[in-house]
Amino acid sequence: MSFSRRRFLLGAGGLLAAPLFPELLRAAPAMPMADGRRMAPQLAEPNQPLVNPATLPRFVDTLPLPPVARPIGQREHPAHPGRRLPLYRMEMRAFQARLHRDLPPTTLWGYQGSSPGPTLEAKRGEPFLIEWANALPTHHLLPIDHGIHGAEKDRPDVRTVAHVHGARVGPNDDGWPEDAFAPGHSLLYHYPNAQDAATLWYHDHAMGITRLNIYAGLYGAYLLRDPEEQALALPDGEHELPLILCDRLIARDGQLYYPVSDDPAAPWVSEAYGNATLCNGKLYPFMEVEPRRYRLRLINAANARHYELSLSSRRPFVQIGSDQGLLPAPLERMRVELYPAERADVVVDFSGLDGQTVELRQPSEPLLQFRVRNRGDKNAVSVAMPTALRAVPRIDPASATRERILTVGEMDDANGNAMMMTLGGHHWSDPITEDPLQDSVEIWSLVNLTGDAHPIHLHLVRFQILERRPYDLFAWNERKELKYTGPGQPPPPHEAGWKDTVRADPDMVTRIIVRFEGEPGKYVWHCHLLEHEDNEMMRPFKLLPKG
Ligand code: C2O
Ligand code: CU
Ligand code: CU
Repeated sequence: MSFSRRRFLLGAGGLLAAPLFPELLRAAPAMPMADGRRMAPQLAEPNQPLVNPATLPRFVDTLPLPPVARPIGQREHPAHPGRRLPLYRMEMRAFQARLHRDLPPTTLWGYQGSSPGPTLEAKRGEPFLIEWANALPTHHLLPIDHGIHGAEKDRPDVRTVAHVHGARVGPNDDGWPEDAFAPGHSLLYHYPNAQDAATLWYHDHAMGITRLNIYAGLYGAYLLRDPEEQALALPDGEHELPLILCDRLIARDGQLYYPVSDDPAAPWVSEAYGNATLCNGKLYPFMEVEPRRYRLRLINAANARHYELSLSSRRPFVQIGSDQGLLPAPLERMRVELYPAERADVVVDFSGLDGQTVELRQPSEPLLQFRVRNRGDKNAVSVAMPTALRAVPRIDPASATRERILTVGEMDDANGNAMMMTLGGHHWSDPITEDPLQDSVEIWSLVNLTGDAHPIHLHLVRFQILERRPYDLFAWNERKELKYTGPGQPPPPHEAGWKDTVRADPDMVTRIIVRFEGEPGKYVWHCHLLEHEDNEMMRPFKLLPKG
């Protein structure tokens, strides 16, 4: 039996006869069918058995901390004539690393020989330049679907372009997906760092193969700081660390396995889930900590998995920030939920736990172990937590000059057999429809027509969530009428700060309010489920210059 990727998505076909990797099957979400039944997607069997992570000993490797990037010199940039700016170089190349002590080395792609790549440390008001250089092999590590827009056979298999997620940069420095370049080339990008402190991250954004490039390892943290945040005296230095989570499937030979459909001509799958959770690139690592507070920058870099993290100590995380920086006040949370590309800035308190261990869990599976050890360090005393962080003034909905109704959909094409992921019912290459005016305020109402949640991300801007409001899908489908069926639900406190990625829930209209600050030009907005993003769930938008 063979299915086009479109039919495959509709789930025409049964489960694999003998599930070689039951975790994967369980993890794969059921897809809605035309008649309302739900079936699991059809996945091809890997050509060699996969590692079952549950059989590996836990907590035998230390948690890797990515190196901090250092400038290699200074350079002038057309955007700042006469001013020399620090220059970083991030070279993408293939290398080998052990994901776990007992696994053979894995070929990964990373920046400067590291995945996650080196952490970029930025300060507000201090611009710098990064030369992103592609020194990868010309053959892709993972299976390309040449039927996907932007990944046609006549393009080089290996193409990359780096994007700093959450950064307010100019249109020529943002990682426009079609600017992806082949091995042997590089691009120089300018980062103004003219925005509030936030946990940003960088990752690949090449048209049609982003899901594969990130899965191969092309991601890293980008921490932007400012004086107001520094004045809060939050844990820093070795007591502050990025913690980047993603899931992978690993073949017995140690190599990454990316799931494919059973049609070799159309291998795309609707969501890639793994059973092995990597914490900063390691499976089940441990970290020695002192009995004090630590600041963790949690980043969900997974293709499709969402996390619901908790601590075995039954102590809460104290969440101090979300995607685009600090919350108004610290929030105690027993569980931290992160959809792909979302971040949570949290403080974890290990004081009084000397000699004990604390696990980070996804819901019940331990991912990472903290070993609390008093090393007699004088700095081990915990400073008090601030009670107020940073004001987040609400954008007044009355200031919006426009509301856009934008659907989040999975749709058939004219032949009746195409399953496409679309935004606003449009394809990537359709003419631009979202064209906000610079500095204007708009409300975007994301009407989710599908049965799944989609993390929707806008480049360039930060925004606020107004509400999620139930609506009548039938009225929409029949007459394109947006009929609300209940009151709007305001965002809970942890979602009431500045965001750049929002979970658009099924059966809901998710309404966000955005002030479109930035340099005029073309940017993108998209679903951050990487399989969706690669298959049409991405659209350009154009920021028009004001009068
Ligand atoms: Cu995480 Cu288009 O970005
Ligand atoms: Cu982004
Ligand atoms: Cu999606």
